[in-house]
Amino acid sequence: MGSSLRKSFIAGNWKMHLTLSESAALAREVRGAASEAGPEVALCVPFTAIGVVKDAVQGGPVQVGGQDMHWEPQGAFTGEISARQLVDAGCKVVVIGHSERRRYFGDTDETVNKKLKAALGAGLLPIVCIGETLDERESQKTYRVLETQVKGAFSGFKPQDLSTTVIAYEPVWAIGTGKTATPAQAQDAHTFIRKLVARTVDEKLAARMRILYGGSVKADNIDSLMAEPDLDGALVGGESLKAANFVRIIQFKTQAGKERKA
Ligand code: PGA
Repeated sequence: MGSSLRKSFIAGNWKMHLTLSESAALAREVRGAASEAGPEVALCVPFTAIGVVKDAVQGGPVQVGGQDMHWEPQGAFTGEISARQLVDAGCKVVVIGHSERRRYFGDTDETVNKKLKAALGAGLLPIVCIGETLDERESQKTYRVLETQVKGAFSGFKPQDLSTTVIAYEPVWAIGTGKTATPAQAQDAHTFIRKLVARTVDEKLAARMRILYGGSVKADNIDSLMAEPDLDGALVGGESLKAANFVRIIQFKTQAGKERKA
Protein backbone atom coordinates (compact mmCIF):
# COMPACT_ATOMS: atom_id res chain seq x y z
CA MET A 1 0.00 0.00 0.00
CA GLY A 2 2.95 2.17 -0.58
CA SER A 3 3.98 5.11 1.54
CA SER A 4 2.59 8.57 2.14
CA LEU A 5 5.38 9.78 -0.15
CA ARG A 6 3.73 7.96 -3.03
CA LYS A 7 0.15 8.45 -4.21
CA SER A 8 -1.30 5.17 -5.45
CA PHE A 9 -1.77 4.85 -9.16
CA ILE A 10 -3.99 2.45 -11.09
CA ALA A 11 -3.63 2.35 -14.87
CA GLY A 12 -5.76 0.36 -17.27
CA ASN A 13 -4.05 -1.00 -20.37
CA TRP A 14 -6.75 -1.64 -22.93
CA LYS A 15 -4.30 -3.12 -25.46
CA MET A 16 -5.90 -3.68 -28.92
CA HIS A 17 -9.51 -3.80 -27.76
CA LEU A 18 -12.82 -1.95 -28.10
CA THR A 19 -14.55 0.17 -30.70
CA LEU A 20 -14.96 3.91 -30.22
CA SER A 21 -18.47 3.63 -28.79
CA GLU A 22 -17.39 0.85 -26.40
CA SER A 23 -14.38 2.95 -25.40
CA ALA A 24 -16.50 5.99 -24.62
CA ALA A 25 -18.98 3.94 -22.58
CA LEU A 26 -16.26 2.26 -20.51
CA ALA A 27 -14.40 5.53 -19.94
CA ARG A 28 -17.61 7.20 -18.72
CA GLU A 29 -18.14 4.44 -16.16
CA VAL A 30 -14.59 4.76 -14.90
CA ARG A 31 -14.91 8.53 -14.68
CA GLY A 32 -18.12 8.13 -12.68
CA ALA A 33 -16.35 5.96 -10.12
CA ALA A 34 -13.00 7.75 -9.83
CA SER A 35 -12.57 10.42 -7.18
CA GLU A 36 -9.88 12.90 -6.20
CA ALA A 37 -9.64 11.14 -2.84
CA GLY A 38 -8.88 7.79 -4.47
CA PRO A 39 -5.80 6.68 -6.37
CA GLU A 40 -4.58 8.42 -9.49
CA VAL A 41 -6.26 6.66 -12.43
CA ALA A 42 -5.19 6.49 -16.07
CA LEU A 43 -6.65 4.72 -19.08
CA CYS A 44 -4.01 3.72 -21.65
CA VAL A 45 -6.02 3.22 -24.80
CA PRO A 46 -5.49 2.54 -28.51
CA PHE A 47 -4.35 5.64 -30.42
CA THR A 48 -7.65 5.87 -32.30
CA ALA A 49 -9.63 6.02 -29.05
CA ILE A 50 -7.63 8.78 -27.34
CA GLY A 51 -9.99 11.53 -28.52
CA VAL A 52 -13.27 9.90 -27.46
CA VAL A 53 -11.83 8.73 -24.14
CA LYS A 54 -10.47 12.20 -23.44
CA ASP A 55 -13.94 13.65 -24.05
CA ALA A 56 -15.58 10.97 -21.91
CA VAL A 57 -13.38 11.65 -18.87
CA GLN A 58 -13.32 15.44 -19.28
CA GLY A 59 -13.59 17.37 -16.03
CA GLY A 60 -12.82 14.34 -13.85
CA PRO A 61 -9.61 13.01 -12.32
CA VAL A 62 -9.04 10.22 -14.87
CA GLN A 63 -6.08 10.72 -17.21
CA VAL A 64 -5.64 9.37 -20.71
CA GLY A 65 -2.52 7.58 -21.87
CA GLY A 66 -0.97 6.00 -24.93
CA GLN A 67 0.39 2.45 -24.97
CA ASP A 68 3.60 3.18 -26.85
CA MET A 69 5.36 5.96 -28.77
CA HIS A 70 8.34 6.65 -30.99
CA TRP A 71 11.35 8.53 -29.64
CA GLU A 72 11.67 10.98 -32.55
CA PRO A 73 9.48 14.11 -32.47
CA GLN A 74 8.42 13.61 -36.11
CA GLY A 75 9.63 12.11 -39.36
CA ALA A 76 9.32 9.34 -41.90
CA PHE A 77 8.32 6.55 -39.50
CA THR A 78 5.21 5.03 -41.03
CA GLY A 79 2.78 3.74 -38.47
CA GLU A 80 4.43 5.47 -35.51
CA ILE A 81 3.24 8.16 -33.08
CA SER A 82 5.42 10.72 -31.32
CA ALA A 83 5.24 11.98 -27.75
CA ARG A 84 4.21 15.38 -29.07
CA GLN A 85 1.32 13.84 -30.98
CA LEU A 86 0.17 11.98 -27.87
CA VAL A 87 0.21 15.21 -25.87
CA ASP A 88 -1.56 17.04 -28.68
CA ALA A 89 -4.30 14.37 -28.72
CA GLY A 90 -4.85 14.76 -24.96
CA CYS A 91 -2.55 12.21 -23.33
CA LYS A 92 -0.79 12.84 -20.04
CA VAL A 93 0.61 9.33 -19.65
CA VAL A 94 2.39 6.77 -21.82
CA VAL A 95 3.33 3.12 -21.34
CA ILE A 96 6.89 2.38 -22.45
CA GLY A 97 8.56 -0.99 -23.03
CA HIS A 98 5.56 -3.20 -22.32
CA SER A 99 6.64 -6.84 -22.58
CA GLU A 100 4.37 -7.31 -25.61
CA ARG A 101 6.24 -4.47 -27.35
CA ARG A 102 9.56 -6.03 -26.34
CA ARG A 103 8.48 -9.50 -27.46
CA TYR A 104 6.61 -8.82 -30.72
CA PHE A 105 7.78 -5.41 -31.87
CA GLY A 106 11.46 -5.22 -31.08
CA ASP A 107 11.58 -2.86 -28.10
CA THR A 108 14.92 -3.14 -26.31
CA ASP A 109 16.40 -1.50 -23.23
CA GLU A 110 18.04 0.94 -25.61
CA THR A 111 14.82 1.99 -27.37
CA VAL A 112 13.05 2.13 -24.00
CA ASN A 113 15.74 4.55 -22.85
CA LYS A 114 15.23 6.76 -25.94
CA LYS A 115 11.44 6.65 -25.59
CA LEU A 116 11.69 7.57 -21.92
CA LYS A 117 13.81 10.59 -22.80
CA ALA A 118 11.33 11.73 -25.45
CA ALA A 119 8.31 11.14 -23.20
CA LEU A 120 9.80 13.18 -20.36
CA GLY A 121 10.84 15.89 -22.80
CA ALA A 122 7.22 16.19 -23.96
CA GLY A 123 5.90 16.31 -20.38
CA LEU A 124 4.26 12.88 -20.39
CA LEU A 125 4.20 10.71 -17.29
CA PRO A 126 5.97 7.51 -18.38
CA ILE A 127 5.14 4.03 -17.08
CA VAL A 128 8.25 1.98 -17.81
CA CYS A 129 7.53 -1.75 -17.87
CA ILE A 130 10.03 -4.37 -16.78
CA GLY A 131 9.73 -8.02 -15.83
CA GLU A 132 11.17 -11.48 -16.24
CA THR A 133 9.91 -14.43 -18.29
CA LEU A 134 9.07 -17.79 -16.72
CA ASP A 135 12.36 -19.27 -17.96
CA GLU A 136 14.30 -16.44 -16.41
CA ARG A 137 12.48 -16.84 -13.09
CA GLU A 138 12.98 -20.60 -13.06
CA SER A 139 16.67 -20.24 -13.79
CA GLN A 140 17.07 -17.73 -10.92
CA LYS A 141 17.74 -14.82 -13.26
CA THR A 142 14.90 -12.54 -12.11
CA TYR A 143 17.08 -10.02 -10.28
CA ARG A 144 19.66 -9.97 -13.04
CA VAL A 145 16.98 -9.28 -15.69
CA LEU A 146 15.35 -6.55 -13.61
CA GLU A 147 18.72 -4.94 -13.00
CA THR A 148 19.60 -4.89 -16.70
CA GLN A 149 16.19 -3.46 -17.63
CA VAL A 150 16.24 -0.73 -14.97
CA LYS A 151 19.83 0.29 -15.69
CA GLY A 152 19.13 0.25 -19.44
CA ALA A 153 15.97 2.35 -19.15
CA PHE A 154 17.50 4.93 -16.78
CA SER A 155 20.93 5.18 -18.37
CA GLY A 156 22.10 8.79 -18.70
CA PHE A 157 19.33 10.36 -16.59
CA LYS A 158 19.86 12.55 -13.56
CA PRO A 159 17.65 11.83 -10.54
CA GLN A 160 15.65 15.04 -11.04
CA ASP A 161 14.81 14.02 -14.63
CA LEU A 162 13.04 10.92 -13.33
CA SER A 163 10.85 12.50 -10.65
CA THR A 164 7.57 11.67 -12.44
CA THR A 165 8.65 8.31 -13.86
CA VAL A 166 6.69 5.26 -12.76
CA ILE A 167 7.93 1.67 -13.03
CA ALA A 168 5.56 -1.23 -13.70
CA TYR A 169 6.88 -4.60 -12.59
CA GLU A 170 5.09 -7.08 -14.83
CA PRO A 171 6.38 -10.64 -14.71
CA VAL A 172 5.80 -11.90 -18.25
CA TRP A 173 4.51 -15.25 -16.95
CA ALA A 174 1.68 -13.46 -15.14
CA ILE A 175 0.44 -11.32 -18.04
CA GLY A 176 -2.86 -12.50 -19.44
CA THR A 177 -2.33 -15.95 -17.99
CA GLY A 178 -4.52 -15.70 -14.90
CA LYS A 179 -1.39 -16.56 -12.88
CA THR A 180 -0.88 -13.60 -10.58
CA ALA A 181 2.36 -13.25 -8.67
CA THR A 182 1.65 -13.78 -4.99
CA PRO A 183 1.72 -10.59 -2.94
CA ALA A 184 4.98 -11.85 -1.39
CA GLN A 185 6.58 -12.48 -4.80
CA ALA A 186 5.52 -9.04 -6.01
CA GLN A 187 6.72 -7.34 -2.81
CA ASP A 188 10.07 -9.11 -3.12
CA ALA A 189 10.58 -7.86 -6.68
CA HIS A 190 9.40 -4.35 -5.79
CA THR A 191 11.83 -4.13 -2.86
CA PHE A 192 14.62 -5.28 -5.12
CA ILE A 193 13.71 -2.65 -7.74
CA ARG A 194 13.45 0.15 -5.18
CA LYS A 195 16.83 -0.72 -3.66
CA LEU A 196 18.31 -0.93 -7.13
CA VAL A 197 17.05 2.56 -8.03
CA ALA A 198 18.42 3.82 -4.69
CA ARG A 199 21.81 2.28 -5.40
CA THR A 200 22.13 3.13 -9.09
CA VAL A 201 20.26 6.45 -9.37
CA ASP A 202 19.33 8.12 -6.09
CA GLU A 203 18.00 7.17 -2.68
CA LYS A 204 15.45 9.98 -2.37
CA LEU A 205 14.15 9.33 -5.86
CA ALA A 206 13.75 5.63 -5.03
CA ALA A 207 11.72 6.45 -1.92
CA ARG A 208 9.35 8.55 -4.02
CA MET A 209 9.19 6.46 -7.17
CA ARG A 210 5.94 4.62 -7.69
CA ILE A 211 6.28 0.97 -8.59
CA LEU A 212 3.13 -0.66 -9.97
CA TYR A 213 2.48 -4.37 -10.20
CA GLY A 214 1.01 -5.82 -13.41
CA GLY A 215 0.02 -9.33 -14.45
CA SER A 216 -3.47 -10.78 -13.96
CA VAL A 217 -4.54 -8.12 -11.46
CA LYS A 218 -8.22 -8.69 -10.73
CA ALA A 219 -11.02 -7.35 -8.59
CA ASP A 220 -10.50 -10.26 -6.22
CA ASN A 221 -6.73 -10.00 -5.75
CA ILE A 222 -6.14 -6.22 -5.79
CA ASP A 223 -6.69 -5.81 -2.03
CA SER A 224 -4.07 -8.35 -1.02
CA LEU A 225 -1.57 -6.97 -3.55
CA MET A 226 -2.11 -3.40 -2.40
CA ALA A 227 -1.58 -4.42 1.21
CA GLU A 228 2.14 -4.85 0.45
CA PRO A 229 4.26 -1.86 1.45
CA ASP A 230 6.16 -1.47 -1.82
CA LEU A 231 3.21 -1.91 -4.19
CA ASP A 232 2.07 1.56 -5.15
CA GLY A 233 -0.58 0.58 -7.65
CA ALA A 234 -1.30 -1.63 -10.63
CA LEU A 235 -1.16 -1.80 -14.40
CA VAL A 236 -4.26 -3.74 -15.34
CA GLY A 237 -4.88 -5.42 -18.70
CA GLY A 238 -7.84 -7.79 -19.15
CA GLU A 239 -9.77 -6.61 -16.10
CA SER A 240 -9.59 -2.99 -17.17
CA LEU A 241 -12.00 -3.86 -20.01
CA LYS A 242 -14.74 -4.88 -17.57
CA ALA A 243 -16.24 -1.76 -16.05
CA ALA A 244 -17.44 -3.22 -12.75
CA ASN A 245 -14.20 -5.08 -12.12
CA PHE A 246 -11.96 -2.13 -12.95
CA VAL A 247 -14.10 0.12 -10.77
CA ARG A 248 -13.62 -2.33 -7.89
CA ILE A 249 -9.88 -2.29 -8.57
CA ILE A 250 -9.64 1.50 -8.34
CA GLN A 251 -11.66 1.30 -5.13
CA PHE A 252 -9.27 -1.20 -3.57
CA LYS A 253 -9.42 -1.69 0.16
CA THR A 254 -6.38 -2.35 2.23
CA GLN A 255 -7.49 -3.06 5.75
CA ALA A 256 -10.63 -4.45 7.30
CA GLY A 257 -12.99 -3.23 4.64
CA LYS A 258 -11.73 0.33 4.72
CA GLU A 259 -11.25 2.10 1.44
CA ARG A 260 -7.78 3.40 1.18
CA LYS A 261 -7.41 7.16 1.10
CA ALA A 262 -4.52 7.31 -1.32
P1 PGA B 1 -3.22 -8.55 -17.67
O1 PGA B 1 -2.22 -7.60 -18.45
O2 PGA B 1 -3.77 -7.76 -16.51
O3 PGA B 1 -4.27 -8.91 -18.68
O4 PGA B 1 -2.44 -9.74 -17.19
C1 PGA B 1 -1.39 -6.71 -17.76
C2 PGA B 1 -0.53 -5.92 -18.73
O5 PGA B 1 -0.14 -6.49 -19.76
O6 PGA B 1 -0.26 -4.73 -18.52
